[in-house]
Amino acid sequence: MGLVNTKEMLKKAYNEGYAVGAFNVNNMEIIQGITEACEEMKSPVILQVSAGARKYAKHKYLVRLVEAAVEETNIPIALHLDHGDSFELCKSCIDGGFTSVMIDGSSLSYDENVEVTKKVVDYAHKYNVTVEGELGKLAGIEDDVNVSEKDSSYTDPSQVEDFVNKTGVDSLAIAIGTSHGAYKFKPGHKVELRFDILKEIQKKLPQFPIVLHGASSVLPNLVEKINKFGGSLEDAIGVPEDLLKKSSKMAVCKINVDSDLRLAMTASIREHLSLHPKHFDPRQYLTDARSAIKEVVRHKIENVLGSFNKI
Ligand code: G3H
Ligand code: 13P
Ligand code: ZN
Repeated sequence: MGLVNTKEMLKKAYNEGYAVGAFNVNNMEIIQGITEACEEMKSPVILQVSAGARKYAKHKYLVRLVEAAVEETNIPIALHLDHGDSFELCKSCIDGGFTSVMIDGSSLSYDENVEVTKKVVDYAHKYNVTVEGELGKLAGIEDDVNVSEKDSSYTDPSQVEDFVNKTGVDSLAIAIGTSHGAYKFKPGHKVELRFDILKEIQKKLPQFPIVLHGASSVLPNLVEKINKFGGSLEDAIGVPEDLLKKSSKMAVCKINVDSDLRLAMTASIREHLSLHPKHFDPRQYLTDARSAIKEVVRHKIENVLGSFNKI
């Protein structure tokens, strides 16, 4: 079905009340685990690459691996830049084969955010590349930048129409209470999402795809396994899956997951090495890690996204 941008994918998701999973990729096993699960579930998917992933694995390696996944499967796959922080970075990904980019101007003033986002959109659209913008600021850690709870802010619904009209973005990431990383909330905190804000935004932007970042649930079985095999993630807390599922039936059409994949991979490698102390062939524990990634993606499609049989 090929490498596609996110336009039709997100439009179909909006119309049919589900969300497409956007999973962060850093190496071959992660790409294979995600796309094998999506192929089996007949689900579209967005493979996203952060600046950190690009630095770790190198742009060309990731693009070639994603192209191989496209050849091996029969599902729509978008290759997306996650949290692009400059026009130059977005341009380099567009020129280098990505089909979608995010320009994250959420740390800038409103006017600066509009300016850089519009510049990216004007360039991207010439090449049929879709653009995600962001309004509002999530708490948590991304690429070593730690946004504290007091510096985070919900998206202001009164700005969204103006932002979309001025920039021409194809989708919009919003802040309604999710947070990046595995330590999203303090123990004992009742996790809630601001569905009232999401509804307001949906009213202002009918038929427009909304994106949720920081949407890992920090799956308790994975945290337990990591702790059982020598880790220490006792305070890790994520977004309850029923809240994410509810958002996927509203205007949320793209749900970002990275931390749950990291936990799955680490839990399986810790377990493998602990149960097989004599193993030292990476293919042995990475086979388990790839299966663990696949299992989490299947779980997300079934329990959060609702994107099975949607190709
Ligand atoms: O939102 C950020 C993603 O989890 C990517 O994390 O920048 O450490 O690759 P990273
Ligand atoms: P999590 O840390 O909740 O997985 O969020 C990932 C994300 O938003 C990537 O952009
Ligand atoms: Zn994010």
